Amino acid sequence: MAEIGMDLNRFILEEERKHPQATGSLSIALTAIETATKIIASHVRQAGLVDILGKTGKVNVQGEEVQKLDELANEIMIEHLSDSGEFFALSSEEMEEPIFPEKGKNGKYIISFDPLDGSSNIDVNVSIGTIFSIHKKVKATVEDFFQEGYKQVAAGYVIYGSSTMLVYSTGNGVNGFTLDPSVGTFLLSHPNMKIPEKGKIYSINEANAKKWIDKGLVDFIESLKEKGYTTRYIGSMVADVHRTLIKGGIFAYPADKKNPNGKLRLLYEASPMAFLINQAGGMATTGKEDILKVKPENIHQRVPVFLGSKTEIQELLTYIS
Ligand code: AHG
Ligand code: MN
Ligand code: MN
Repeated sequence: MAEIGMDLNRFILEEERKHPQATGSLSIALTAIETATKIIASHVRQAGLVDILGKTGKVNVQGEEVQKLDELANEIMIEHLSDSGEFFALSSEEMEEPIFPEKGKNGKYIISFDPLDGSSNIDVNVSIGTIFSIHKKVKATVEDFFQEGYKQVAAGYVIYGSSTMLVYSTGNGVNGFTLDPSVGTFLLSHPNMKIPEKGKIYSINEANAKKWIDKGLVDFIESLKEKGYTTRYIGSMVADVHRTLIKGGIFAYPADKKNPNGKLRLLYEASPMAFLINQAGGMATTGKEDILKVKPENIHQRVPVFLGSKTEIQELLTYIS
């Protein structure tokens, strides 16, 4: 069992040593994500200032033109992931089509990511994040993105909250690392994370209740209220899922009349979060099937999402069709 305080790089290397056949590729890939997200974190921490300076002269403290933070985060991810040489292809919320980096020709992996999740919360100083999902390269075509979630080799997120945390899994449990800002290193703070069997919180945009397609969901939420549950909804999936992972309960973005397949994207939101929740002992479903079993058909496809503690998800499934 890894000790609290172990730095992420050592943790990654020790995980690698457990697999004698490992070549080190995944370790390099994860380290590229670590570096990219630390740089994104430093931009997030300056977001308020950039905005002020941007309004005055359209330049930031580095003398660069002010850019929207989600586009900037996307560029930082692309640069570092491409340069690692480990990724044959990259897909992102911010790009219509995947890219195939020159340096990644022999890369063993493909990656999908949401460079900045919860971007509507940037302006109000509320937690945002980055989400990633890694699969093996199999056919070396765009079809590699259409592998089911259970085939992920790694998935995780970074939350830029009151502290910056990186939470990830390679299919061997979930571990959380907190960035020590004084030295710029992620340190193991949450080893072997397990979601409680049952929680006391539900997290859903209840303003949409009248538009929900499955009316059973209204009855389910009412039943939770009667049982004394409370509600928390941040509007950044990363933050809402992070809280759900730690405290238990349920997070949902269901199908509604405006978003008939829900709002969240399968490849870089639903699937990596489902992988983590599953690895932590919870459940994640579209309401009809396990999210990890959904076979993707296109890069930006959406799915309804219900994830959380086993007790709440099993109960939910008795209410919805
Ligand atoms: P993004 O900022 O990457 O576009 O994602 C926003 C998503 C997700 O983070 C959150 O769970 C959801 O949008 C909130 O949607 P509503 O405002 O419709 O509740
Ligand atoms: Mn998002
Ligand atoms: Mn986003």
